[in-house]
This record gives sequence, C-alpha cells and structure tokens, in this order.
Amino acid sequence: MSGQTSLHIDGRLVRVKAGTSVAAALRVADSMGVARTSISGQPRAPFCGMGVCQECRVRVDGRRMLACQTVCAEGMQVETTA
Ligand code: FES
Repeated sequence: MSGQTSLHIDGRLVRVKAGTSVAAALRVADSMGVARTSISGQPRAPFCGMGVCQECRVRVDGRRMLACQTVCAEGMQVETTA
C-alpha cells in the first residue's frame, strides 16, 4: 500500500506510515514500546527520543541500532531480544 512500510518486529509483521521511526513502530506493534530487557529481565524502552539515553537499542537487520534514530524501511527485520 502506498505511503506505508512493512517490517517485522520479533518476527511479527507490522505496517506503519512511511517515515515512522522504529521506536514508534515498537508502540504500533503493541509491544508496549519495549526495545530490550535489562540484565535482570526488566523491560527497557525509548526514553529521550533523541539518541542520548541508549535505552532504545535494538538489532536491525543484524546490526545494533537506536530505534529512535532509525526510520523504518520496507522488509526491515527488528529484534528486541537480541
Ligand atoms: S530513546 Fe534515547 S537514545 Fe533512543
């Protein structure tokens, strides 16, 4: 569909508006916006939204990225547990 982007978040197909950040897509995916878990298993989520706090780290197509600084791309594979 025009104006939309499809990606996978932890294997789940998610469609978002073109230009949406991965951090926003995490919310759309109904994952409560959780980007990763701490060493003790606590959920970590985007906090600053501007690339400073590092709380939104995810793996995108095998590379560690900041979800708040990454725009969704067609076919992107996002892993929050890696
Ligand atoms: S939300 Fe803080 S670096 Fe992404």
